[in-house]
Amino acid sequence: MYGFESILANEIKKLGGLNVQEGNRIVSFDGDTGFMYKANLALRTAIKILKPIYEFKATNEDELYRGIYDHDWSQWMNLDQTLAVDVTVHSDYFNHSKFLSQKTKDAIVDQFRNKFGKRPNVDIDSPDLRINVHVNQDLCTVSLDTSGLSLHIRGYKSAANLAPISEVLAAGLLLLSDWNGQSHFLDPMCGSGTILIEAAMIACNIPANIHRKEFTFQKWKDWDPILFETIRTSLLSKTKEMHYTMQGYDIDPQSIKIAKQNILNAGLEEFISITKKDFFESEKQVQGPLHILFNPPYGERMDIELEQFHENIGNTLKRNYPNTNAWMITGNLEAIKFIGLRPSRKIKVFNGPLEAKLVKYEMYEGSRKRKSNPTETDKN
Ligand SMILES: C[S@@+](CC[C@H](N)C(=O)[O-])C[C@H]1O[C@@H](n2cnc3c(N)ncnc32)[C@H](O)[C@@H]1O
Repeated sequence: MYGFESILANEIKKLGGLNVQEGNRIVSFDGDTGFMYKANLALRTAIKILKPIYEFKATNEDELYRGIYDHDWSQWMNLDQTLAVDVTVHSDYFNHSKFLSQKTKDAIVDQFRNKFGKRPNVDIDSPDLRINVHVNQDLCTVSLDTSGLSLHIRGYKSAANLAPISEVLAAGLLLLSDWNGQSHFLDPMCGSGTILIEAAMIACNIPANIHRKEFTFQKWKDWDPILFETIRTSLLSKTKEMHYTMQGYDIDPQSIKIAKQNILNAGLEEFISITKKDFFESEKQVQGPLHILFNPPYGERMDIELEQFHENIGNTLKRNYPNTNAWMITGNLEAIKFIGLRPSRKIKVFNGPLEAKLVKYEMYEGSRKRKSNPTETDKN
C-alpha cells in the first residue's frame, strides 16, 4: 500500500526475509516455502504475497499467449483443479488487462486440452491456483498468488459497522505511530473495533492472520501441513503478555455490539474493554502515558456538524487528556483546522482510493493548566 512500503519492509526483515527491497506499493524479498507460510501468517501490512515463477518478454498478445503456453502448468495444478488469472499492466504495448487475463487463461487451458484432452475450469472467487501476470513494458512476470483473498481478511470480523477501516490500514497506521504496546491505549471512536484488535495483536505479538480460515497455498500440490503447523506453533510461542489497558468508546450501541463480537472472535476479550461513551464527555482514565489512535467519521459519509465536531475533538484532548499522544487519520484536511491544536506530525496515506493524513497531537502532563504550549494553537 502507498506510504507503507518501509513499514512492510521492516516487518519482513524482522521476520527473517532476505534481500528485502522496497518498490512502489510493493516490497520484494527472498524466502523458502516455510517463510512463505510464515509471511502469510504474520505480516500485518501485506495485502497479498506473490511468488514469482518466471519471466518472459512480449510486445503483443500472441507473444504473451506463447510465453504462457510454453510453461509447464501441470507442475502447479491438476486437471480437476480450478484457476483464475489477474493481470496488471504498465505498458505502452498493452492496455487492456481484462483481455490479457483472458489470453493468459486461454493459453493455460489450451495447454491442458492439447496434453490431456480435457481442460481445467475457471473459478474467479475461490480458485485452487490464482495466477498473477504483471506486465511492465515488454517484461511479463508470472507469479502464483500465495494468499488468495486479500490479507486484510483476518478471520476475526463477523460484522462491520458503517465505515470500518481496513485491518491492513489499521495495522499500518499503528506501526507508523510507533505503537509497541508499551503504554495504555484508547480508540475513542472505535466502531467495529478494528484498530483496537490490531493494536492488541501488535502489543502481544500475535500473528495477524492466525484466525484466517484459508490461504491459497493450502490447495497447492506441494502443500505441507506439517511444515505449516511447525511455523504456526513457533510463531505462537513468541506471543507476549500485555501489561497495559486497552479501551474503546463509541456512542453507537450497534457499533459497541459489533466491536465486542469481533474482539471475542479474535480471542482478545481479556485485554480490550469497550464502553458506550461520548468521547467529548470523557476524560483520561489511566495514570501514565496514553496512546490514542482513531478514525473519526469522515463527513462525506456521515451527517455531522464538521466544524463543531472537530472543535470538540481538540477541546477534549486539550482539557481532558494530559500525557497523551493522539493520532488520528482523516481525509478531511479542511476540518482538522478546527481541532485547534498544531499537529507535531502529518503523514500522507491512502484510505482506499481516498488521500488521507495521519496526524499526531501531543498533550503534555499539566498542559491543561498552562495557557498554551509549543504544540498548541489555542483558538479559544
Ligand atoms: C469511521 S467510524 C470508526 C470505524 C472504526 N475504526 C472501525 O474500524 O470500525 C467512526 C465512529 O465514531 C463514532 N462516533 C462518532 N461520534 C462519536 C463521539 N462523540 N464519541 C464516540 N464515538 C463517536 C461513530 O459511531 C462511528 O462508529
